Amino acid sequence: MLDLVESKLSQHEAFRADVLAGLSQRQKTLPSRWLYDQRGSELFEEITHLDEYYLTRTETAILRRHAGEMAALCGDNVVLLEYGAGAGIKSEILIDALKAPRMYVPIDIAADFLAQTAERVRDRFPGLVTRPIITDFTADFDIPSDIPAHPRAAFFPGSTLGNLGGSEAAALLRRMREHVGDHGEAIIGVDLRKDVATLIAAYDDRRGVTAEFNLNLLRRINRELEGDLDIMAFAHEARWNEPESAIEMHLVSRKPQVATVAGRSFAFAQGETIHTETCRKFDIAALTHAAQRSGWRVDRIWSDPAELFAVFGLRTEARALRLSSAAAQA
Ligand code: TRP
Repeated sequence: MLDLVESKLSQHEAFRADVLAGLSQRQKTLPSRWLYDQRGSELFEEITHLDEYYLTRTETAILRRHAGEMAALCGDNVVLLEYGAGAGIKSEILIDALKAPRMYVPIDIAADFLAQTAERVRDRFPGLVTRPIITDFTADFDIPSDIPAHPRAAFFPGSTLGNLGGSEAAALLRRMREHVGDHGEAIIGVDLRKDVATLIAAYDDRRGVTAEFNLNLLRRINRELEGDLDIMAFAHEARWNEPESAIEMHLVSRKPQVATVAGRSFAFAQGETIHTETCRKFDIAALTHAAQRSGWRVDRIWSDPAELFAVFGLRTEARALRLSSAAAQA
């Protein structure tokens, strides 16, 4: 309990520091993880059901169709490490297909959310040991020693890899490789490059749910950091950044204005933006190389018929070598 109180206090401090630093930059920026307060998480859940937002239903369909092959890649008695605990039904599809899974380990910084996830999985799979870890998985951390060292597999759906910066993403791939050890696997879902109109629509829906999700960050700043940002004076914008191969979400100032946050004032020119999220879109070759550079081999890639989305099945180099030498001997 004390842990929870402490983690809330330090989260508040971190939020304050991030907002003040981010709004002081030339390109104003707010780290996207702050989008997910209670309301933000609800709005995101609503986004996943939107017509325009093809990602969740496409990935879910891929998982349903190929869960058996994914489970075979992971093998029996596996400890499943999930990075980010928000995947809900997707984790259940995979867990359901696994043969005698040893333990489910959801990892997330949002303690409340993590507790909900753990409880849901415990209800659904009463025999499965569920062992949450409260931590920011984008930073370095060790897997606690009470968790069996092998066999382990990593699960990272939702194209969340694309919400990390390039070096952060590479570091996380390497960290997962460390976490699963020499004979581990990873199942990673990523959104693929496609026509820009489809991409923009997915992040700027007709009903304005994504706009509300983005603007909710300003409401959160006002509420938690004594801000006086004029919500109506900002507009949601989704733009395509070709060199970065990414959709970016921005909040555009509709007029010149000055706002106060945590006792400091910030000026906005008309048209100036706050960059709130990056959603990178992958191509198969580039991610294959990135995975290889982080010590992984691509074992399988599962996709949908229109190739909107891809789920990568990775295994560690050590295992790939072991298998091929075993095959050479046979
Ligand atoms: N990772 C998903 C994506 O890139 C989910 C997500 C992150 C998202 N931030 C978002 C979806 C902002 C909509 C808006 O799409």
